[in-house]
Amino acid sequence: MTKTILATGGAGYIGSHVTLELLTSGYEVVVFDNLSNSSAKSIERVSRITNGAPHFIEGDVRDASALDHLFETFSIDAVIHLAGLKAVGESVAHPERYYDVNVAGSTTLFNAMFRHNVKHAVFSSSATVYGEPETMPLTESSPTGPLNPYGATKLMVEQILQDITGASPGWRSMILRYFNPVGAHVSGEIGEDPLGFPNNLFPFIAQVATGHRDLLQIFGDDYNTADGTAIRDYIHVMDLARGHVKAIDYLLANESKENSTPIVNLGTGVGSSVKEVLIAWEQACGFPIKSEITARRAGDVQISYADAQKAKELLGWETLYDLPRMCKDHWRWQKGNPEGYR
Ligand SMILES: NC(=O)c1ccc[n+]([C@@H]2O[C@H](COP(=O)([O-])OP(=O)(O)OC[C@H]3O[C@@H](n4cnc5c(N)ncnc54)[C@H](O)[C@@H]3O)[C@@H](O)[C@H]2O)c1
Repeated sequence: MTKTILATGGAGYIGSHVTLELLTSGYEVVVFDNLSNSSAKSIERVSRITNGAPHFIEGDVRDASALDHLFETFSIDAVIHLAGLKAVGESVAHPERYYDVNVAGSTTLFNAMFRHNVKHAVFSSSATVYGEPETMPLTESSPTGPLNPYGATKLMVEQILQDITGASPGWRSMILRYFNPVGAHVSGEIGEDPLGFPNNLFPFIAQVATGHRDLLQIFGDDYNTADGTAIRDYIHVMDLARGHVKAIDYLLANESKENSTPIVNLGTGVGSSVKEVLIAWEQACGFPIKSEITARRAGDVQISYADAQKAKELLGWETLYDLPRMCKDHWRWQKGNPEGYR
């Protein structure tokens, strides 16, 4: 029988790709999103690509009665909880919003799952929970120590989900710690559509490439790395989406242990510097991207990349796409949709 997955935040950048991948893998999907940082057009486009419309409910994860209505309407087998706020700088300026949406929103959702006997959850966490790392690569047991309220909310929800799962008969959950999701679906129909100033490197470069910004600011070239710029583990959003399907397959299969909440890094295991990314982008779009070196940005760590071994062993998941492909796919989306979904 077809299983039905609730994707909170399913209209967003990662959520739309996860929804698409779930649909093409034979799952039914209910998207629940308040559209505070996304557009319903992403869902329309996912429907067009897959010929299998996901259900879409506009609503807020802090709204218990909206969640009750959803769980009464659909028979949900598992939840992927992607909804949340994700801008590090904004979380420093407005921590109250982050604790409200990310933490209170999650407990409201988990309580609704209790009321409706839904016992499987995948949570979107982040490599930001690791803070300033001491050794590389980062394994799931590397010390945590978030440097900002955003990272703190992710770590809190990890703990909440682990406690609930551990204490509740029949519950099985998984925490996915994403590294740096980039790229877009090969169709060029869905992709990242940041509102305002982009916080991340790929959308920043993409906006310079489309002429929406004059030049890329490279925040610091005096790090202790080969070319002096910071190193991150970029992961293609479709690889990431496939990781979610593997996580759901695992939770819904019998091999998954009851009351356990494995934590799994989703990264490539390869680090790329800002300058390496810039070169790959220039090759993808075929023209130079103007840039300037500016001061380091507060709160940025020097190097961060994943040990991706656990995902391989537990889920049989490995990344398929390399940096040139990430740039190519991101550029196809941005070029075809210079104003995003607007
Ligand atoms: N993009 C990244 O670099 C990254 C890295 C690590 C983890 N994550 C996490 O992955 C998840 C998805 O991130 P994304 O990049 O797709 O961001 P996104 O902003 O594109 O998607 C988040 C979605 O959640 C929705 N949303 C926000 N508040 C909500 C609320 N109160 N109720 C219902 N819906 C709400 C937004 O409208 C949006 O569609 C987030 O939890 C984020 O913290 C993202």
